Amino acid sequence: MRGEVLLFISILSLTSVVGHVSYSIPEEMAKGSLIGNIAQDLGLDRKRLTSGKARIFTGDSAEYIELNRERGVLLIKEKIDREALCGQTTPCALHFQVILENPMELYTVVVEITDINDNTPTFEKAEMKFKISESAVIGAKFMLERAIDADVGMNSLQRYTLTKTENFVLKLKEQPDGEKIVEMVLQKPLDREKQEEIFLVLTAVDGGEPNLSGTAQIHVTVLDINDNAPVFTKTVYKATIPENASKGTVITTVSASDADKGSNSRVTYSISNTAAGVRDMFEMNEVNGDLILKSSLDYEKARFYQIHVQASDEGGLTDSCKITVEVIDINDNKPVINIMSQTNVILEDSKSATVVTMVNVQDLDSGDNGKVQCAINENIPFTLKPTSSNFFNLITDSDLDRERAAEYNITVTCSDEGVPSLSSSVTLTLQISDVNDNAPVFERSSYEAYIVENNTPGLSIFTVRARDADWNQNARVSYILEDSSVNGVPVSSYVSVSADSGVIHAVRSFDYEQIKDFHFRVKAQDGGSPPLSSNVSVKIMIQDQNDNPPQVLYPVQTGGSLVAEMVPRSADVGYLVTKVVAVDVDSGQNAWLSYKLQKATDRALFEVGLQNGEIRTIRQVTDKDAVKQRLTVIVEDNGQPSRSATVIVNVAVADSFPEVLSEFTDFPHDKEYNDNLTFYLVLALAVVSFLFITCLVVIISVKIYRWRQSRVLYHSSLPVIPYYPPRYSDTLGTGTLPHVYNYEVCRTTDSRRSDCKFGGAGSQNVLIMDPSSTGTMQRIQSEKSILDEPDSPLEVSFPQDTYLLHPLIVQAQMRYIATLRSPRQE
Ligand SMILES: *[C@@H]1O[C@H](CO)[C@@H](O)[C@H](O)[C@H]1NC(C)=O
Ligand SMILES: *[C@@H]1O[C@H](CO)[C@@H](O)[C@H](O)[C@H]1NC(C)=O
Repeated sequence: MRGEVLLFISILSLTSVVGHVSYSIPEEMAKGSLIGNIAQDLGLDRKRLTSGKARIFTGDSAEYIELNRERGVLLIKEKIDREALCGQTTPCALHFQVILENPMELYTVVVEITDINDNTPTFEKAEMKFKISESAVIGAKFMLERAIDADVGMNSLQRYTLTKTENFVLKLKEQPDGEKIVEMVLQKPLDREKQEEIFLVLTAVDGGEPNLSGTAQIHVTVLDINDNAPVFTKTVYKATIPENASKGTVITTVSASDADKGSNSRVTYSISNTAAGVRDMFEMNEVNGDLILKSSLDYEKARFYQIHVQASDEGGLTDSCKITVEVIDINDNKPVINIMSQTNVILEDSKSATVVTMVNVQDLDSGDNGKVQCAINENIPFTLKPTSSNFFNLITDSDLDRERAAEYNITVTCSDEGVPSLSSSVTLTLQISDVNDNAPVFERSSYEAYIVENNTPGLSIFTVRARDADWNQNARVSYILEDSSVNGVPVSSYVSVSADSGVIHAVRSFDYEQIKDFHFRVKAQDGGSPPLSSNVSVKIMIQDQNDNPPQVLYPVQTGGSLVAEMVPRSADVGYLVTKVVAVDVDSGQNAWLSYKLQKATDRALFEVGLQNGEIRTIRQVTDKDAVKQRLTVIVEDNGQPSRSATVIVNVAVADSFPEVLSEFTDFPHDKEYNDNLTFYLVLALAVVSFLFITCLVVIISVKIYRWRQSRVLYHSSLPVIPYYPPRYSDTLGTGTLPHVYNYEVCRTTDSRRSDCKFGGAGSQNVLIMDPSSTGTMQRIQSEKSILDEPDSPLEVSFPQDTYLLHPLIVQAQMRYIATLRSPRQE
C-alpha cells in the first residue's frame, strides 16, 4: 500500500508543482484511525506543518478526515460509509487539499475509500406471495423481487438460491442494463391436491469474504382446478339387512372423496342401476351417501341386490361403486297348508290306514324357518303320515263307526322351526257315511200285552218299536209278523202288524174261554242292502170278561119232569137235602159263584150255603110240613156286572115214594094239566125223542167235522177248565151225597205256563184219597185259597190238582167241554 501511495505521489509530483499525495483506506475505519503520514509523504517537515498552519480544505463536503499537524498524519475524523459517500460509484475517493501558509502551498490529497462487505443483501419485502393455478404449464415464469446489496464489487449481490423444490428452478437473467433479474420457472406441474401451499425461501448471497446473505419467503398458493374425479373409499360395499327392516332404514353409507377443492369437490351420489326393481326398493341420499330402504323387502322374492352407485362432483367427473345388499331371512311366513282332497266323506267300514286325503305344506322361508312339522288334533282315529317332503297322508288308524261319531273335525296344524315359530292350521270336516252295520233293536227283549176279550176286530193292541242306529234308509225299520200258528191257525188270523208303525192290531175278537194267550214273533227289518233284522217275542194275554152266566149242572133241569129230592121226615136239623152245582166258564171273580135262596115254599125250612150251594134243613121237619117243597135258588157270579142263573129244586118231604107220588100228583099247579097229562107225556116223549135224535145227528156230524181240530185241541195245553170255587168240596167229607168218584179233570204239565199261581210249594192243594172208602175223602186246603185273592182274575183258574167230582157234574162238564171245542166263530 505504501508503495502504491508513493507511486501515486510521484505521478502527481510530475504533473503539478503542487505536491500531490493519495491514500487508499477501507471504509468504516474507526475514528482517529491513521490514514497516512502526510508529512512524510509530502516530504515536509513537521515543523513546516505547524508553522505553515497546514489545514485541510474540503470545500462544502463533510470533513471525514482531520490533519494532525504535530504528528504530520491524517486521521479519520468521521466514520466513512462508502455506500453513503459514493453509492454504487467506484472508485470512491475523497478529494481534498492540504493548504500551508507561509508560503502558501497547496497539496492535493486523494483518499480512496475502498469497499468492505458491510452490507447484506436485503429484500424489500420479506415475503412474496404467488397464486398459481395447478394447471400452470411447465416453463411458466414468475418474477421474483430482487435483493439489494449496497456493497459493490465482489461485496455486492452475487447469486440467489432457492430452497429445494421440485416444482421450481431459479433463473437469473441479465438485463441489457446490466441488472440481474431473478425468475422462478415451473419445471414440474403443481398439484394442489398434493401440496396446496408451497413455502420457499429465496436467499440472496453477496461475494464478500465472508459472504452475507438475505432471505425472503416465497408463499405459493396452488389454485385448484377440477382435475380430480371423486373416488369411492371402496369399490364394493357389502351390506346385510333383515327382510323385516322397516322403510327408511339406512342400510349402508358410501363415501367418495374428491381431492379437489370447493365446488370441485362437492360430490353427489346417485343410484345408476337402470333396473326399476332396485330403484323402487332403495334410494340414495345424494348428499351423504346413505343407502335407504324405500320399500319392504321380501327374502322370498329377492335375496340379493346389487346397486351401482355413482358419485359425481360438480365438474362432472364421476366414480362408481357397487353395493351388494344381502337380505337375511326372517321367519315371516307362516306355513301354508293345502288340503288336496275333493271329497270329505269316507265310508264307516273303511279299513285302517285308508288315505283320507293328502296334505301339502309350504313355507316360503328358508332354512329352519322353512322346516315344517305337522300334527293333527288328538283323540281322533286318524294320523298324519309324512310321505315325501312337504306331503303328508291323512290316514285312518282305527275303525270308524258312524254311529259313534258321524263327523270329525280334523285340524291339521303345521309349525315351522323358526324362532319364534310360526304356525297355521286348517280344519277339515270329514263326514263318515253310513253302512248298514246295525240291525234294528227292539226296545224290549220281549213284549207282553193284554187285551180284554170280546174286543172289536181291528182294535190296536199295542205297539212294538225297534230302533236302528244306522242312518236314513239303513235305519228305516219295517215290522213284519213272522209266520207261526196258534192252535193250528196261522197267527196272521189273530193279529196283524203295521209295517211302518209296529202297531199290533187284533184281527178277530178274542174269547178268553177259548184262548187265554198266545205267542208270536215280530221281525224288524231295516232298509239297508242287504237288510238286517231282529225279532222279538210277543205274548198277548186275553183278559176275561164276565160274558158267561153261571150254568147249573145239578139239579138237572128237565122241563116239566118231576125230579125231587127226598127228605125223610125224620131228618135232623142241618140235613143235606141236595147241593146245587153250577159252573161259570169265566174265570176269576167272574166265575166265583154264590148261591142264594130266592123263593121257597117254606123259607124257614131250608137254607142254601152261600158258597157251596148246599141245601140243608134249618129246623126239624115236622108232620105239618108239606110234602112238596119248591125252592128257587139263584146262582150269581161275582163279575161286574154279575150274571146269574136260577134253578128250581123240588124237595119231597116224605118217608116213602108212594107218599111222594100221591102228593106230587096233587101239585096245585099241575091240576089243570091232569086230564091231559098222559097226552102231554106222550107228546113230550115224542118231541124229546125227535129232538134227541136230531141233536145226536147234528152233534155227530159236527164232531166228525171238527175231528181234527179236536185232536189238536187235545194236544194243546190250553186249559179249558170250568171254575170251581175251592170250597166247593169242603163238606164233601161230611156230606151224604151218594156215589162219589175220583175223577181227574186236567193237569197241566208245564208249571211255568200254568195259570195256577197258587200251586207252588207251601200252597198246594193236596187231595188225600182213601181207596177203601168210596164215600169219604179229605181235602187239606191251603190257607191261601183262591178266595183270598179275588182281585187277580188271571191267576184264578185251575190247576194241577185232582178233584173229586160228582159224576153228574162230570157228565155236564164233559158236555160243556164238547161245546167249547166247537169254536163259536165259524
Ligand atoms: C265341526 O265343526 C263345525 C263347525 O265349526 C261344528 O258345527 C261341528 O259341530 C263340529 N263337529 C264336531 C264333531 O266337533
Ligand atoms: C229271531 O231272533 C233270534 C235271535 O234273537 C234268532 O236266533 C232267530 O233265528 C230269529 N228268528 C227268525 C225267524 O228270524
